[in-house]
Amino acid sequence: MAEESTKVEDDKKNENRLWGGRFSTSRIHQCLEKINNSIEIDHRLHKQDIKGSLAYASGLKDAGNLTDQERNLIVAGLKKIEEEWAEDEFQLYQSDEDIHTAVERRLKELIGPLAGKLHTGRSRNDQVATDTKLWLKDESEELTKLLSGVIMRMAKKAEEQIDVLMPGYTHLQKAQPVRWSHWLLSHAWALNEDRQRLAQIVERTMSRCPLGSGALAGTPLALDRSKVAQALGFTGVSENSMHAVADRDFVAEFTFWSALTSVHLSRMAEDLLLHCSLGFAKMGPGLSTGSSLMPHKSNPDGVELLRAKGATLTGLCTSMLALLKGLPSTYNKDLQLDKSILFQAHDDLKLSLELTYAVIDTLQVDRINCLAALEPSMLATDLAYYLVHKGIPFREAHNLVGTVVRLAEQKKIEIKDISIIELKEISPLFDEDVLQVWSYESSVEQYKAFGGTSKSSVEEQIVKIKTQNHTE
Ligand code: ARG
Repeated sequence: MAEESTKVEDDKKNENRLWGGRFSTSRIHQCLEKINNSIEIDHRLHKQDIKGSLAYASGLKDAGNLTDQERNLIVAGLKKIEEEWAEDEFQLYQSDEDIHTAVERRLKELIGPLAGKLHTGRSRNDQVATDTKLWLKDESEELTKLLSGVIMRMAKKAEEQIDVLMPGYTHLQKAQPVRWSHWLLSHAWALNEDRQRLAQIVERTMSRCPLGSGALAGTPLALDRSKVAQALGFTGVSENSMHAVADRDFVAEFTFWSALTSVHLSRMAEDLLLHCSLGFAKMGPGLSTGSSLMPHKSNPDGVELLRAKGATLTGLCTSMLALLKGLPSTYNKDLQLDKSILFQAHDDLKLSLELTYAVIDTLQVDRINCLAALEPSMLATDLAYYLVHKGIPFREAHNLVGTVVRLAEQKKIEIKDISIIELKEISPLFDEDVLQVWSYESSVEQYKAFGGTSKSSVEEQIVKIKTQNHTE
């Protein structure tokens, strides 16, 4: 049977298991093999695994555990393996439990038993923690660039559409007129905080190198941990070997970060879906799907999925915390499952950001529909400010305008159509100049203090957010 012969083949390869010596048989139950093997997932760490081994080989040489020549042979072998991965020529065996096993097995094939010296004083426990931190540091840089790109596109779109006015909502009820750009930037600022937050997480949780922690107790070698760490781009070394091999807080914080960023995207997605439904905007070409039954439909599925990712990413954050909760000290195999959570969170968030860029880039804002959705009742607050400017305390002004709103409702007319005579009955301070209140443009323009919706304030925001995200 073909299946049997593959197994026999694999039995030979089982000699390559890193822990084979302790067992009388090299066969392991197929269920254990299936649940234990992580290569299908952690092969994504191959670059970082090789990079870590290159730095470690030099560390071993400096410590007197490898001769120059041995170090050079190991380095040449590792470089060849790197090439094989890059060319998609690296051959995986079923017995390659994880990326660390696969690289070491191949190194042995290339340079013989000397490969076994590379693992001196090192455990897969400090190795995997190092690889994962290195991977996440690299990817965080990519995500930061992507995030900045999205923020910059939002800022430019805000600039392009700065004259569009639309209803601002609270409780999903029309509240006050605002600039469309002010709304868009409200989401851009949330993403800008996510960008800053990621930098803080990288700095706090990924700057110290675990290599040299061994399985849990540390290293008995004269290894210059700081030098190895520096070669790998870390700014320092982990302070406690037991903590270093147990620590996955960097993954937990990253999944929280992904969840929160995705929650921000989901809130923007929800606004966009409402805007599209209300006719304020239209999805750009290629960003809607049709209905299999209703020929006229153009559905914003992509943005709905952007909203939905907020749920699954929140789930991944919960999974990671649950994985860590109650775990005993140091390394336990449970920790292996951190990678599928991490990669999923990363991939989902990356795709969400790419989609967000495309959506914002091509979004067509309908200035006429936005304007048409404004209602004079949204200027009631302005009417109160009118009285405030005439010296009335705001609470009293609010109350008087409440009476105006009630009167308009009774008469089934807009508040702007209440006559001056009727207004004067409510407060003698109302005068002909009240007419100036009924302008949406002047309404938004009164919010000139920084952070408000006037044109100059929004322009200031644009300059500020662009400066912070300008990467060239
Ligand atoms: N594949 C393992 C992981 O991802 C590597 C560490 C294995 N360590 C061990 N002692 N079994 O966590």
